[in-house]
Amino acid sequence: MKLLYPTSLALDIAALKGFAPTLHAYDPKKPLPEDLIDAEAMITWTNSPDNLKDAAKRMTQLKWIQSLAAGPNDVLSAGFDPAKITITTGSGLHDYTVAEHALGLLLAAARKFHEMRDFQSRGEWPQHLGGPQPDRPAGAFTSLRGANVTVWGFGNIAKALLPSLTALGANVTGVARSKGVRNGVEVISSEGDDFEKVLAKTDALVMILPGDASTKNALSKERMAMLPKHAWIVNVGRGTSIDEDALVKAVEGGKLGGAALDVFVTEPLPKESNLWGVKNVIVSPHAAGGRPQGAEALIADNLRRFLAGQELRNVI
Ligand code: OXD
Repeated sequence: MKLLYPTSLALDIAALKGFAPTLHAYDPKKPLPEDLIDAEAMITWTNSPDNLKDAAKRMTQLKWIQSLAAGPNDVLSAGFDPAKITITTGSGLHDYTVAEHALGLLLAAARKFHEMRDFQSRGEWPQHLGGPQPDRPAGAFTSLRGANVTVWGFGNIAKALLPSLTALGANVTGVARSKGVRNGVEVISSEGDDFEKVLAKTDALVMILPGDASTKNALSKERMAMLPKHAWIVNVGRGTSIDEDALVKAVEGGKLGGAALDVFVTEPLPKESNLWGVKNVIVSPHAAGGRPQGAEALIADNLRRFLAGQELRNVI
């Protein structure tokens, strides 16, 4: 069996040698050379759209793609035949990096680091941000202590973020498709009546939703209007889950406190996007994940399962 691995990251291939008869490196930005197109399995990471489209057409023996991305939208849209090919995701490989970034964006929103930096770049002292300040005034998001933080999308990443939020004193509520208590936190259903009540009390809404048809514009104009005027949005899931035009209007019009976004409908964020110019919008360049951690262990486990004809982990 031939397993292809990309040259775009330093994988510890020695960890996989015991499982696969042949391991072959490939350049994920170029069409595959002729001698690799008969591979049965392929690991993907930062592949170009053309590389994936070409692989979907030419790799007739392919049975399994292990993406290292948590959300492999690139692989899903390349045209691979879902009836013949199992796609497994890198879910779990980005939990701590994305959780850390979400925490950073929340703290930036509360502590206004972005505004301090704006002043610094003009050589000005932001008098209103320094010195004595009211402690957690009503109608503002200034601290995680005592803040109501709603986390929409309550998977691995949310669970990795949770201890940091609770350690800093936030009251966390989760939102997912199905309700329940997870990791000691109440998770409500995004379909239920409670959602509106929870949104109405939210100081910061952290979105960690995948980018599929079911999440498109999940944070719609109507749902934005349910949030308090001081609420901040943090998005480390997928840009398509927020109505960006409505967000620009809400933040500019003072209907929301602000938004710290790591993901966008179109990436890189186009020059003409209205998000660039909004004072309380922080643009982070899809920087939350991007460093798969523990990839070898996931690949080795799935490879062992694949060879044994067992069900793979993280099947999409
Ligand atoms: C991912 C990401 O899907 O970084 O891994 O967004």
